[in-house]
Amino acid sequence: PCQWSGLIETYRSYLPVTASTPVVTLLEGNTPLIPTPALSEAVGKGVKVLVKYDGLNPTGSFKDRGMTLAISKAKEAGAKAVICASTGNTSASAAAYATRGDMQAFVLIPDGYVALGKLAQALVYGAQVLAIEGNFDDCLRIVQELAANYPVTLVNSVNPYRLEGQKTGAFEIVDNLGNAPDWLCIPVGNAGNITAYWMGFCQYHQHGKCDRLPRMMGFQAAGASPLILGEPVAHPETIATAIRIGNPASWEKAVAVKDASQGQFNSVTDEEILAAYRLLASKEGIFCEPASAASVAGLLKVKDQVPTGATVVCVLTGNGLKDPDTAIQHCNNQLQRGIEPTTTAVAEVMGFSST
Ligand code: F0G
Repeated sequence: PCQWSGLIETYRSYLPVTASTPVVTLLEGNTPLIPTPALSEAVGKGVKVLVKYDGLNPTGSFKDRGMTLAISKAKEAGAKAVICASTGNTSASAAAYATRGDMQAFVLIPDGYVALGKLAQALVYGAQVLAIEGNFDDCLRIVQELAANYPVTLVNSVNPYRLEGQKTGAFEIVDNLGNAPDWLCIPVGNAGNITAYWMGFCQYHQHGKCDRLPRMMGFQAAGASPLILGEPVAHPETIATAIRIGNPASWEKAVAVKDASQGQFNSVTDEEILAAYRLLASKEGIFCEPASAASVAGLLKVKDQVPTGATVVCVLTGNGLKDPDTAIQHCNNQLQRGIEPTTTAVAEVMGFSST
């Protein structure tokens, strides 16, 4: 018996927990680092590209890494309720972990801009789901004010335990590769995850678990790219609704990460995101959500800068099943319907000539 015991147990000595912290877990983490030959080929120069497929977490996104710790610490502090703003994944994760920890979850989402699967999750896990007539940035402002004034714990990534939990993604990559990659490509929305990954690499480096640090390459959607523009975006727009954010909470931290790692921020268009999304699914057999594909779209955009023979990890933050509407609309494939229920008819549609 060697069952994985979840992030808090596995990385306990690196995390701000004590023996008396109640561990609220769904056995998140331990997600696969998958080699992607078609992508490696597309980059060329003997570069090895792998994807960290965090869509395989219990609620289908990397948010579970941060939520196991944020909810455990909230429970330790005696909280009865938690609250978050979300483009969808945080709300799904908060709802699941709050339920698991016997707490109430309140989630604020931008009405009409949350993918169907994420909405279904928040509802089915039993959160109180409040659709706001505004964008994510409005939701985040409101939940911060509510948490400051009412007995409800904020579990957005401004809660430091979220980043502490999410840094374990970097630990797993180093544990798998035996060292840090040369580049880490990652989608950026509220800018928490890029900050968390860097914390993880630095902490592991200090403990001698790796002898180098990656360049942190952050990618935003072109219509929601405040970090590239250098100013907030009042009306962010992108098909990648998970990163439809105009004023990231961890702005300064992310800039510090970029500078310290000699990294870069770049933007990718919705067309580039969708092209990468289709490539991953149809050439690698890996189905991520559109926001996640921004990391791969970004790598392809700046591939000329990748050193020969480098190891590059792209973080795939969420599962493709989260957003079935985008998948069906943009996959360049379609359901073949109206087929007669006979073997002959089906064989004909399949392109086999009759014998
Ligand atoms: N990818 C996915 C699938 C996300 O859901 C998010 C953020 C990001 C990337 C960006 O990560 O915000 O740490 O820079 N989703 C948040 C949410 C905003 O509410 O689910 P970040």
